[in-house]
Amino acid sequence: MIKPDGVKRKLIGEIISRFEKRGFNIVAMKMVHIDRTTAERLYEEHKGKSFFEELINYITSGPVVCMIVEGEEAVTVVRKMIGNTDPKEAPPGTIRGDYALTKAENVIHASDSEEKAKREMSIFFVENEIVAIM
Ligand code: TYD
Ligand code: MG
Repeated sequence: MIKPDGVKRKLIGEIISRFEKRGFNIVAMKMVHIDRTTAERLYEEHKGKSFFEELINYITSGPVVCMIVEGEEAVTVVRKMIGNTDPKEAPPGTIRGDYALTKAENVIHASDSEEKAKREMSIFFVENEIVAIM
């Protein structure tokens, strides 16, 4: 999911391009403005943490681009491609390492496990919005 700062900074094409060039298939995609309820569901695991309110305010501050990226070891490889949560620790060449400086606005979200991928897909997409693999 390209976060509000990524959309505002016109990085949508750049980011999608990286996943395509790596060899992944984009099998679903949409731009949405997340409401608070959805944001709190997405980030349920962080409820009660010090950064939670700031995170919810930020993720609901503008449109995001959600996509399902399909391919070999997609969860692991995509997490590697986005880089560390704290962009200061993310190596150059990763998305966060190239385009972000702060944890609060780190350009992109990606599911961190197969289980979470399934859960997060179901938050944003219904079955007929997901196309068959090309
Ligand atoms: P987390 O799931 O730990 O990171 P990731 O996005 O890499 O899976 O945290 C979710 C988001 O919450 C993270 O992208 C940015 C924000 N966040 C902070 O603002 N401060 C923090 O200390 C942490 C851990 C996260
Ligand atoms: Mg996470």
